[in-house]
Amino acid sequence: MKILDACCGSRMFWYDKNNENTIYQDIRKEIFDIHRKHVDVNPDILADFKNMPYTDNEFDLVIFDPPHLKWAGPNSVMKAQYGQLDINNWQDDISKGFDECLRVLKPTGTLIFKWSDCQIHIKEVLANIKHKPILGDKRGKTRWLVFVKEVD
Ligand SMILES: C[S@@+](CC[C@H](N)C(=O)[O-])C[C@H]1O[C@@H](n2cnc3c(N)ncnc32)[C@H](O)[C@@H]1O
Repeated sequence: MKILDACCGSRMFWYDKNNENTIYQDIRKEIFDIHRKHVDVNPDILADFKNMPYTDNEFDLVIFDPPHLKWAGPNSVMKAQYGQLDINNWQDDISKGFDECLRVLKPTGTLIFKWSDCQIHIKEVLANIKHKPILGDKRGKTRWLVFVKEVD
């Protein structure tokens, strides 16, 4: 089983932060403390989710938890933990991220997408991508959606 976490951050949602089947990827490597929180972003691979260094059809499971904030204080814990979107280009960036996650996923493989609705509603995200989830929670601020890569 091969798993990719395409934006691993501090791996906060992992029960096993060093899962042996998983490649942990992020665009930054940063370890520091801010407002009594420890930020430990130490990926196996430094790469951009818009252009990932993997072959097509490589992973059984891909996890995509990109930044969800358009606005964040420059010295805030939120920005340190979750990063920030490019306010002028976030739609294209997220759409490219989905395309890349599905490219590297094996046919019939699963993509898990996490999003927080606090600044951009999930409906706006779904309107900007080519792919449709098969299921996901429909209430609450934090959404988990499941996509499956269809066989051609
Ligand atoms: C919402 S956080 C991920 C939190 C993580 N899932 C956890 O459990 O701690 C989003 C992460 O995406 C990273 N990121 C932002 N832009 C990226 C990009 N273009 N490619 C890869 N990672 C990116 C940020 O550095 C940040 O760590």
